Amino acid sequence: MAAALSQKFCWGSYFLFLCLIGFIFQPVEAAVKKYQFDIQVKNVSRLCHAKPIVTVNGRFPGPTVYAREGDRVLVTVTNSAEYNMSIHWHGLKQFRNGWADGPAYITQCPIKTGHSYTYDFNVTGQRGTLWWHAHIFWLRATVYGAIVIMPKPGTPFPFPQPHREENIILGEWWNNDIQEIEKQGSKLGLPPNASDAHTINGKPGPLFPCSEKHTFSMDVEQGKTYLLRIINAALNDELFFGIAGHNMTVVEIDAVYTKPFTTKALLIAPGQTTNVLVQATQSPNRYFMAARPFMDAPLTVDNKTATAILQYNGIPNTVLPIVPQLPAPNDTAFALSYNAKLRSLNSPQFPANVPLRVDRHLFYTIGLGINPCPTCLNGTRLTASLNNITFVMPQVGLLQAHYFNIKRVFRLDFPDNPPTPFNYTGAPLTANLGTTLGTRLSKINYNSSVQLVLQDTNLLTVESHPFHLHGYNFFVVGTGIGNFDPKKDPAKFNLVDPPERNTVGVPTGGWTAIRFRADNPGVWFLHCHLELHTGWGMKTAFVVENGKGPDQSILPPPKDLPPC
Ligand code: C2O
Ligand code: CU
Repeated sequence: MAAALSQKFCWGSYFLFLCLIGFIFQPVEAAVKKYQFDIQVKNVSRLCHAKPIVTVNGRFPGPTVYAREGDRVLVTVTNSAEYNMSIHWHGLKQFRNGWADGPAYITQCPIKTGHSYTYDFNVTGQRGTLWWHAHIFWLRATVYGAIVIMPKPGTPFPFPQPHREENIILGEWWNNDIQEIEKQGSKLGLPPNASDAHTINGKPGPLFPCSEKHTFSMDVEQGKTYLLRIINAALNDELFFGIAGHNMTVVEIDAVYTKPFTTKALLIAPGQTTNVLVQATQSPNRYFMAARPFMDAPLTVDNKTATAILQYNGIPNTVLPIVPQLPAPNDTAFALSYNAKLRSLNSPQFPANVPLRVDRHLFYTIGLGINPCPTCLNGTRLTASLNNITFVMPQVGLLQAHYFNIKRVFRLDFPDNPPTPFNYTGAPLTANLGTTLGTRLSKINYNSSVQLVLQDTNLLTVESHPFHLHGYNFFVVGTGIGNFDPKKDPAKFNLVDPPERNTVGVPTGGWTAIRFRADNPGVWFLHCHLELHTGWGMKTAFVVENGKGPDQSILPPPKDLPPC
């Protein structure tokens, strides 16, 4: 009797055990999340000026895409505007599926007026904050929004569960039509006017004219913790962000968890995202959140401060908010020390799989140049380059050209090193600034480990450049000021817990080394995320070859892929 009982008990626990195992390992049916994006022109007014802007569903910023790690996401984009359109899901890896990546003429042709295209992708091995934006000309000035990827069910954040969360999207606003601004720039061969304001969730805040009602505010409860998902959607400005009286704890960047650290201000480049925890433990009041540019090169930027309000419950709107102290606009020391604090979490659950061996060494110089332009104001135009090559946009998508073997669209001879080595960050060079034009890409073997050193140069001027790679996260293994030294610098690389991200700042007059494993076949865009520089040709792409295994080649294109 006793034996029977204990056996029954045993069976009971055995079932419970099996049950638990089943619960943990059973592949949770991936959900399908569907979105409809209508590209519409809408009148919006800011800074006492009204103008028509391109939007998604009439909203500015556009709708947030919510998904869970493991989900399949379908976004049908219907273009009802008079502009060609394409949308990029910035930071999503799009494994074998460049067709859903979005950059116009790189992985697809634009969606023409009156047409639709469904971006169909899986969210695999990523959780956190990313974002989406138009990826054609300067239209991302108003066509952008957040992507929030929740962890798998039953997987908590590796940090205290916040009471509530909020998206904080930083942007830039021009009073004039954005296409006109861009045209003006390319006609002159010079940079167009800087933006008229920065914005937080599309709103400049009360330090700007006619902006009282265009102020974002967030209510907080004393004693609670909040998660802010901060996105820099600005076109051309790296930004500092801070909240008066409150520290922020950085817990994630570019949808990768970090070792938490606390800071009064953060630095965020266009393309990057940063998640922070904020504790509402100050005396109940109204506190400004503020964003303004970081610029440590002698160039003009829109240096105005955008503000939003962190408002404790019960405090009336009449109370004047407290203004935060942000680093000075040219505070290089702050920028370098802030970036040095970023480390991957590198826990057993979220390891940093840094490639320790390198199969392919790439060294790209970042430069500005001056090319002839008979129709431009000075007979010349400013231009930009990588290894002295100014990228020329093709007329058909590069991914199609690669997949269908269409000849004469691109060449696979992008050099691994600059044509002539020189003292990259010495005295400003102003002679022989002409660059070579071409649609030249670099071929990468499947699954090879790649190290790319991006070296800023003093061709015309040094400047910091946020570089973004599509299709991958990479590890930022090293960075420094001056010229990269291939003999000495690699010894100082962090190969243990370097930050893992999709966009990294190359410091003004310095270099940054990144590593990644080329396990995602396709054509992947690499470019400076300052729209001005991208437009000038500071871009190229990697053609990552197929592997031999069954799941190692590019998927076939979807039927509705827009034709050229
Ligand atoms: Cu967020 Cu190719 O860009
Ligand atoms: Cu740049």
